[in-house]
Amino acid sequence: MRTLLVLCGIAALIGGGLAFKSQKYQKPAEHVTADWIYNGTFRTRVDHFRAQDARVVDFVYHANLNFTGENGPVYIYLKDAGDYTTRWIESGLVVDLARESNGSIFTFDYRYFGNNRPTPNTTFENLEFLTIEQILADVAQFVNYITLFHDVYGSDVIIYGAGYGGTLATWARKKFPHIVDAAWSSSGIYELIVASLSVYDSLSYSIYRTSGADCRNLVQEAFEEAEELIAENDAASLQELFNLCNPIVTNSTNDVSSFFQNYYDLLVDFVQTQHASGIQDMCDDLEESSLSPLEAFSEWARFALTGEQCFDASYASKITQRSNPAWDELGTLSGRRQWNYIQCTQAGLFQITDDWTWLPNHVELLYQIAVCQDVLGPDYVFDHIRAALEFLRNQYGSLYLRSSRTIYTNGEVDPKMYNGIIYTTDPQSVAISIPEHGRASDIPPIQDTDSAELVAVKERIVELLRDFTIPPPLPPPPTDAPLL
Ligand SMILES: *[C@@H]1O[C@H](CO)[C@@H](O)[C@H](O)[C@H]1NC(C)=O
Ligand SMILES: *[C@@H]1O[C@H](CO)[C@@H](O)[C@H](O)[C@H]1NC(C)=O
Ligand SMILES: *[C@@H]1O[C@H](CO)[C@@H](O)[C@H](O)[C@H]1NC(C)=O
Ligand SMILES: *[C@@H]1O[C@H](CO)[C@@H](O)[C@H](O)[C@H]1NC(C)=O
Ligand SMILES: *[C@@H]1O[C@H](CO)[C@@H](O)[C@H](O)[C@H]1NC(C)=O
Repeated sequence: MRTLLVLCGIAALIGGGLAFKSQKYQKPAEHVTADWIYNGTFRTRVDHFRAQDARVVDFVYHANLNFTGENGPVYIYLKDAGDYTTRWIESGLVVDLARESNGSIFTFDYRYFGNNRPTPNTTFENLEFLTIEQILADVAQFVNYITLFHDVYGSDVIIYGAGYGGTLATWARKKFPHIVDAAWSSSGIYELIVASLSVYDSLSYSIYRTSGADCRNLVQEAFEEAEELIAENDAASLQELFNLCNPIVTNSTNDVSSFFQNYYDLLVDFVQTQHASGIQDMCDDLEESSLSPLEAFSEWARFALTGEQCFDASYASKITQRSNPAWDELGTLSGRRQWNYIQCTQAGLFQITDDWTWLPNHVELLYQIAVCQDVLGPDYVFDHIRAALEFLRNQYGSLYLRSSRTIYTNGEVDPKMYNGIIYTTDPQSVAISIPEHGRASDIPPIQDTDSAELVAVKERIVELLRDFTIPPPLPPPPTDAPLL
């Protein structure tokens, strides 16, 4: 069998160029909004928690009002990191639900992201108002505004989202149950700790359970070979293999870490977005190759992960890009600087390796601290994150969060699944695992290409959301009126 696969690989090579089964890794979409999407603005406070600070700011929001009608619920989509589009209010499972329920669908970019800029720039000082609590207060403000302005006051409000958007949806439900009637969190992240080994560990398990030990070992050997080249100071070979823009500075711990982190994270993203079928294609591509594990992996990575142009993996570029506080620069446009700030000051959950990780141990917490420090500057103090996380844990309970009328969905090959909520003890909430899928595969509409299991999950979500929008019956009147 193995021989046959190798022969096929060679045949593909001879047959003109390289043939890969894998799809190319999907870069986040450009900022796009369909011309029929409604654009509005709502006013919110720069600082919700200090009444003395009277500054207000107008934020842009978007709405799909095609189906707005009698008894229609309000659906609000909270975006995941890096999404500045309106794609999931233009089409998606909830758009189809809105069509049948007279619903209206809204979304907006979080403060400091997209066009919603509360301060003149993003210096460390000016990022002070970028906190999870401020974002959630914006959500409450937003619901109050749109339900009045769009004349849907009294409608059921359902908040949903993918990734961190899912997390925020659940937290909004938990914090404002009088405003948010139900939440759906697709691949939400809930673990509130400084750093986690489980993402890279689960990556191993995702590959192993999909394709077996051979493929997992090939990936491991590829990274170990890369580690050997670095130990031998052979930056030139690595630069050529991976088509890097700059040679790795082999005596710089941070530059070496940055190289490994980039590829580990690209693999995590690839698995999250390409699901079990993508893992299988990658494994076929690697196993069919007659090259060494490192050669095969780097060739595949150039094709599937990084594309034609040279790949900039250097520590210096990462820091330079994220350090510029001006708007309309690469780091602020992409939102990487802002996410970096949230992670370094509040959210944590740095993905790290240690000596027991299957991949070479080059992404340690010390490296992540260095990134925070070098990007955010001398006023930033890493130790403060522990207090910020303790506060969040007290508010939201980490993986022990309890929220009613909440749906948690997770993909079983998503390496971040174990940072999410995969079971719930709340009788009015449901946790559903989706076999063979990565991240947020249930956000798009039901499609012909969906597996039977995925269709079943999507139908269940729609059924639950329909149930959640039927107003609960009023409590019976008290039999004995209390004496005043
Ligand atoms: C809303 O804004 C987008 C750009 O963000 C634009 O492409 C679109 O045409 C606008 N829609 C309307 C109805 O004006
Ligand atoms: C909403 O209406 C516009 C124009 O009326 C149409 O182009 C668009 O496809 C509709 N969108 C959906 C999701 O039905
Ligand atoms: C949707 O609106 C139409 C009229 O605008 C109404 O007849 C219908 O009952 C509404 N559907 C629901 C589910 O309330
Ligand atoms: C950032 O904005 C503040 C005003 O909030 C201004 O005082 C400061 O000079 C700006 N810094 C940079 C680097 O643009
Ligand atoms: C790394 O090596 C270069 C020469 O190749 C040298 O100039 C530099 O000082 C070294 N840096 C460290 C941190 O050792």
